[in-house]
Amino acid sequence: MTKITVKNNGSVRIEGDFMICDQDGREFGLGGRTAISLCRCGHSENKPFCDGSHKRVGFQSEVQARELPPPVMGAVDLRG
Ligand code: FES
Repeated sequence: MTKITVKNNGSVRIEGDFMICDQDGREFGLGGRTAISLCRCGHSENKPFCDGSHKRVGFQSEVQARELPPPVMGAVDLRG
């Protein structure tokens, strides 16, 4: 099982069974980590991973879980 947690004012935390690949399908070597944080503020010097820069820049984004509408046939998925 994989758990993805969107942290308030911070990163996206991934825990469990996962792999992270670049757009060409090459897998990142994660050094045996079973949890890692991805940057969602855009300021990390180590993208796509969080390096704590969100605190320095005062990134603000608080989220709560919610229901998304059903996908529309032929439409592009919801993207940030
Ligand atoms: S979310 Fe942590 S550096 Fe961007």
